[in-house]
Amino acid sequence: MEAAEALVDWPSEGITRVPFQVFSDQEVYDREQQRIFRGPVWQFLCIEQDIPEPGDVVTSWMGETPVIVARDHDGQVNAMVNRCAHKGALVALKSKDKVKNLTCVYHAWSYRLDGRLRSIAFQNGVNGKGGMPEDFDVEAHRLQPVRVQVFCGLVFGTLSDETPPLDEFLGPRMGAFIQRNFGRPLKVLGRHSQIIHNNWKLYAENVRDSYHATLLHTFYTTFKVNRLDMDGGIILSDRKWHHISYSKRATFNLDKEYLTAEVHSAKYGAKHGESALEGPELLDAWEEFDDGITHSIQTVFPNVVFQFTLNSLAIRFFVPQGVDKTELKWIFLGYERDTPEQSKMRIMQSNLTGAAGLVALEDGCINEFVQRGTVGSGRRAAFIEMGGRVAESNESSRATEASVRGFWHGYRDIMGF
Ligand code: FES
Ligand SMILES: [Fe+2]
Repeated sequence: MEAAEALVDWPSEGITRVPFQVFSDQEVYDREQQRIFRGPVWQFLCIEQDIPEPGDVVTSWMGETPVIVARDHDGQVNAMVNRCAHKGALVALKSKDKVKNLTCVYHAWSYRLDGRLRSIAFQNGVNGKGGMPEDFDVEAHRLQPVRVQVFCGLVFGTLSDETPPLDEFLGPRMGAFIQRNFGRPLKVLGRHSQIIHNNWKLYAENVRDSYHATLLHTFYTTFKVNRLDMDGGIILSDRKWHHISYSKRATFNLDKEYLTAEVHSAKYGAKHGESALEGPELLDAWEEFDDGITHSIQTVFPNVVFQFTLNSLAIRFFVPQGVDKTELKWIFLGYERDTPEQSKMRIMQSNLTGAAGLVALEDGCINEFVQRGTVGSGRRAAFIEMGGRVAESNESSRATEASVRGFWHGYRDIMGF
């Protein structure tokens, strides 16, 4: 892979350095589309609740590749590339639809809900003239299939035949934690999306970065929602692609290091005791699990994040739209069994996150600051040594960038850098 080696000259320090070039280089971006988004990884497409009935269809993306997810008349979930087998037009045009068949508007080629072609207009011509050649075979054409696997109501797809089965791709600990959070009937509470003006990998790093959480997000420390002095840790999957960061609010213990951190952030943030919420019910919460974990962020490489912050359960997934543009989509969830009060509490807490949330808006903003700060940076690189130089699980501290290093470990592997 000579071309790959020439594309990026990765510093010899390895995963503790990230050349800034990878956030703005078009050739790197193109290779990611090929090796990652069309490569051997499972990508989140939608949730099963999006397509509960036969004939339900949603559109999604795998990187820049447009995808259709449909429940067919046998109740099976199928996915296929949203690209007509005739001339390549998008076939499904709405984000959500209910249809008998999928029919392309251009020349009306019509497909079954599993992507097989069923009929084409004017196959035998008009008035006995024109039409397809005699040997045209409807069966020989179809929408390009996408392999699909559904786990705990989450629909994943892959374009590669080499991708291992989903449970193997996730590994046992990642799978068990998804089961913990999504392993019962879900209820959609709301959704929104935002465009973030940064490379998709800055978001992938940001959600793995437990170091920043209580420094950038001063709301968390001010209102004692989440601090690094609570018990918690980082779990990396075997290939280091995915991670879980978790903490236990009940173990909050006022570490003196926070006084120093607060001095650093005093210019921008509030100190303890200086702020109060007019609506303290924003933070009303109940403990849902008996493992003591009150906060978790889980990533599945490359494009999805599962958040369980107090009682706010959400899926965030991101779709690259260019080197410096990414669409970030949010689905806020509860469980079918929730009481109306519990649903209300989850919705209230979702005000902490999302495009206009009290916490997550800072992430959208800071990623753009990095994008802008690293443009034209030549051969310079990020320095990622908090918590050591390796990418290993650490179940005693979140004052580490271990999962960020894990992401780059996996990234280099798949990209050949
Ligand atoms: S491009 Fe779809 S029918 Fe022609
Ligand atoms: Fe953040």
